[in-house]
Amino acid sequence: VVLVVDFGAQYAQLIARRVREARVYSEVVPSTMPVDEMLAKDPKAIILSGGPSSVYAEGAPRLDAALFEAGVPVFGMCYGFQLMAELLGGRVDNTGAREYGRTPLAVSKPGSTLFEGTPVDQSVWMSHGDACSAAPEGFTVTASTDVVPVAAFENDERKLYGVQYHPEVMHSTHGQQVLEHFLYRGAGLAPSWTAGSIVEEQVAAIRAQVGEKRAICGLSGGVDSAVAAALVQRAVGDQLTCVYVDHGLMRQGETEQVEKDFVAATGVQLKVVDAEKRFLDALAGVSDPEQKRKIIGREFIRVFEQAQAELVAEAGEEGAEVAFLVQGTLYPDIVESGGGTGTANIKSHHNVGGLPEDLEFELVEPLRQLFKDEVRMVGQELGLPEEIVQRQPFPGPGLGIRIVGEVTRERLDLLRAADAVAREELTAAGLDREIWQCPVVLLADVRSVGVQGDGRSYGHPVVLRPVSSEDAMTADWSRLPYDVLARISTRITNEVPDVNRVVLDVTSKPPGTIEWE
Ligand code: XMP
Repeated sequence: VVLVVDFGAQYAQLIARRVREARVYSEVVPSTMPVDEMLAKDPKAIILSGGPSSVYAEGAPRLDAALFEAGVPVFGMCYGFQLMAELLGGRVDNTGAREYGRTPLAVSKPGSTLFEGTPVDQSVWMSHGDACSAAPEGFTVTASTDVVPVAAFENDERKLYGVQYHPEVMHSTHGQQVLEHFLYRGAGLAPSWTAGSIVEEQVAAIRAQVGEKRAICGLSGGVDSAVAAALVQRAVGDQLTCVYVDHGLMRQGETEQVEKDFVAATGVQLKVVDAEKRFLDALAGVSDPEQKRKIIGREFIRVFEQAQAELVAEAGEEGAEVAFLVQGTLYPDIVESGGGTGTANIKSHHNVGGLPEDLEFELVEPLRQLFKDEVRMVGQELGLPEEIVQRQPFPGPGLGIRIVGEVTRERLDLLRAADAVAREELTAAGLDREIWQCPVVLLADVRSVGVQGDGRSYGHPVVLRPVSSEDAMTADWSRLPYDVLARISTRITNEVPDVNRVVLDVTSKPPGTIEWE
């Protein structure tokens, strides 16, 4: 593992991603972790991230200089670079010479470990107040800028390297190459962390954890639970049973996709519970979004518990115990929960893939080291169909929170038909990868007058909510081509009875959330 020591800016996770793009496994650790704990992880290299502080500021994060004596290759970036310079006996001054943004860098030792094969003049991303004016003894200065005499230093003997800039951001034109030089040439690592090696490693780990016992997994149709289940299935075969709760709030073709495509690709044992009536009965007469979400969450747990009890009963005496619950928890969930600052409860998110917290299971979380795009890579490696691997996010409570007003079967059918048209046209226009997702919302409590055929109509509007986003925390409305919007509108008003108007949501998040409820 390559450890990225986080000095508190936004950069550490990004650096970890870049290291992984170089096919070397990497993890983020906080700078407050004692050095012997870091070394106990047996890191093959350590990267010190940037950070918001000046090394001289009171309370600025520090590092035990013993780290540099451990024989582990170290690469410091920005704040990490200055900290290195200071701790190893170089000079860092607050010269008042600041650099922010794109800056020309002059490489003075073009054949060095870090810079070999990169141009003598390159553009890098700077963000600093202090500057290193003298490298520590034994280090060679390999690059500078107009403002900073020491913008990079290297010590091949001790395998210690540093750059003043941020090689991990896109604006540093040869940043990835420099990072790879550190990993491959400086630290002697090989690019061996691939989807294939992840699968191999996880399969072995799951076998060791689960042994001869049984596991269940709640499938939602989403990417994460599907890939987690496929991995566990690969590892322990029929000791795993997947449970898919069909709450009747799914989109067209979704249940069939799980039933057919997923099972065909994995051979997993699947228990589909048809719970449509139960959910619709529980939702009858309810229009309040939070109440809908709570009801759906509660019913889901009940159905899941019941399915689990049935499984145990079916298995009879022997091996009846289901000891493990498989969840598709991802790496950002883990890193973020380490942060621990509370956020306001905007919506009660209900993650249908996982949950029953009060059930007594041990968790199997084979994706807890991975980012979303890596999960997709692993899914592909496992042979899951493209439609599952590249699926856009879909909320656990499904169409139940896309009908403004009471949820009924008739309304669900209308919305399903309109949604299917929108998805078909977006796919046909090749826009699936470009947009994050496109909720279609039925304003069931609103009616408007229209003219259809020869007569007056009095129907409902549907809203198109195409958004682009990186993580769903913020989003912008997608500028879809007019002709695509026109086709969707024409087809929906022609094909879906009782819908006589299509409107476009042009609100970003914030202030609007992605879903309407
Ligand atoms: P909002 O509406 O909060 O949505 O901007 C952010 C992202 O989360 C999805 N979403 C959910 N996903 N359970 C889920 O698993 C939920 O209850 C839920 N509510 C919203 C939404 O589709 C978007 O991608």
